[in-house]
Amino acid sequence: MGTELDNRRHRDLNVSQENDPSQSSAPGTGSKAGAGYDTMMGRVVVERGLVSASELERAQSRQELDPGASLADALLSEGFVTTTQIDRLRSEIDSERGTQRLPGYQIIRKLGAGAMATVYLAKQISLDRLVAIKVLPRRYSDNADFIERFQKEGRAAAKLNDPNIVAAYDVGNSGDHHYFVMEYVDGETVYDRISANKRFDEAEAIAVTQQVASALTHAHERGFIHRDIKPKNIMISRDGVVKLADLGLARALSDKDAAEAEAGKAFGTPFYISPEQIRGKVDIGPQADIYGLGATLYHMVTGRVPFKGKNPSDVMYRHLKEPLVPPDHVNPAVSSGLAQIIEMMMSKNPADRYRTAMELSEDLSLVADGRNPRFARSTLDFGSVVTPNSNAADEVEVVRSSSSSGLSNYTLLILVGLVVSVLLNLALIAMFAASTK
Ligand SMILES: Nc1ncnc2c1ncn2[C@@H]1O[C@H](COP(=O)(O)OP(=O)(O)OP(=O)(O)O)[C@@H](O)[C@H]1O
Ligand SMILES: [Mg+2]
Repeated sequence: MGTELDNRRHRDLNVSQENDPSQSSAPGTGSKAGAGYDTMMGRVVVERGLVSASELERAQSRQELDPGASLADALLSEGFVTTTQIDRLRSEIDSERGTQRLPGYQIIRKLGAGAMATVYLAKQISLDRLVAIKVLPRRYSDNADFIERFQKEGRAAAKLNDPNIVAAYDVGNSGDHHYFVMEYVDGETVYDRISANKRFDEAEAIAVTQQVASALTHAHERGFIHRDIKPKNIMISRDGVVKLADLGLARALSDKDAAEAEAGKAFGTPFYISPEQIRGKVDIGPQADIYGLGATLYHMVTGRVPFKGKNPSDVMYRHLKEPLVPPDHVNPAVSSGLAQIIEMMMSKNPADRYRTAMELSEDLSLVADGRNPRFARSTLDFGSVVTPNSNAADEVEVVRSSSSSGLSNYTLLILVGLVVSVLLNLALIAMFAASTK
């Protein structure tokens, strides 16, 4: 819906004075937000098709009668828009106004929006290059702790230099808006790809995961934990290079705040968060990222998130307690080797996961070559007999990758149950017959 509008938002930030933000204060319900703000609100509500031009005029006339009211108030009083619609528009206008004050950058269009920010494609005028700018809404400017961590982490992330990590260029603020300038990735996210194709084939999923593992090796060796590995933070450029985004940003938010941010929006649930982050542990290590990557890989190859739930806390509870349905049971085309890797990545206990992303990389390479993983083991009972590269492994592989392998035990149980129930029924009939004689 917003694309057409976004495409029309080509403007030079340095010269755009149409809606001079200095003339207005933060928009809040009932507050007078200023003429510039009202102009933007009027434009957006009409462009979005929420109100017609004549309805807008009616709201403006109403506003004239009450000099204290904002256009938003008038639109609400007329019943043309809902509070939810107005809140959403306000936060969009807010970040658009924020971008108008980033000197040195020319905004080209909006690339996307997440739980806590809007990302724009822009041109960095001095270097004549394309960049992506993440702009935080004003509400974050009240949180001094957050802002301090945001800037500190941004500066630290800028020191990372890896082909598989979205490079951080700059972090700063302009007025109340804090922003983060980074490498622009011309491509799509893993999330976009899953949404379009449902799932990745195994070789493709392994190739993507390998590149993320390589990014994580680089980051972890330098003391960075990402903490928010998920399909939306993994980008694939047009030429196939995988880039991990948002490194350093997640640490600015506590895990609890991050989970709440996820919970507060309709389209995001903590599907990839590690059990230790849910528990609020303070010493989050590289294993949290391995878990997030495992959950992402699970989603890539099965087309499903590992744990679904009624609401975010239900999903989080399942991360903590519910055994994982093996990925090769969901999609029998997944090899037993890859299933073992994913299960190890997603062990509830961090100590049972890969110690390093490097070890993970090694296992992924082995499985990509059709061999058995070295570190991951089958979690099935008979898995203990499997040793890396053992001859028995092929046999086990056949059993594991068969979708019926998990069912055969159940089938046996059901059969035993049936026999017992038939016997009981026969005994009852015999007793009944005996008593009626
Ligand atoms: N460096 C980048 N280059 C190109 N597009 C990007 C870049 N960073 C982010 N995007 C796009 O902007 C969107 C929003 O990014 P953002 O990090 O704000 O949220 P998210 O990761 O999608 O979701 P969430 O808020 O749930 O973490 C992404 O989904 C992606 O499409
Ligand atoms: Mg992101």
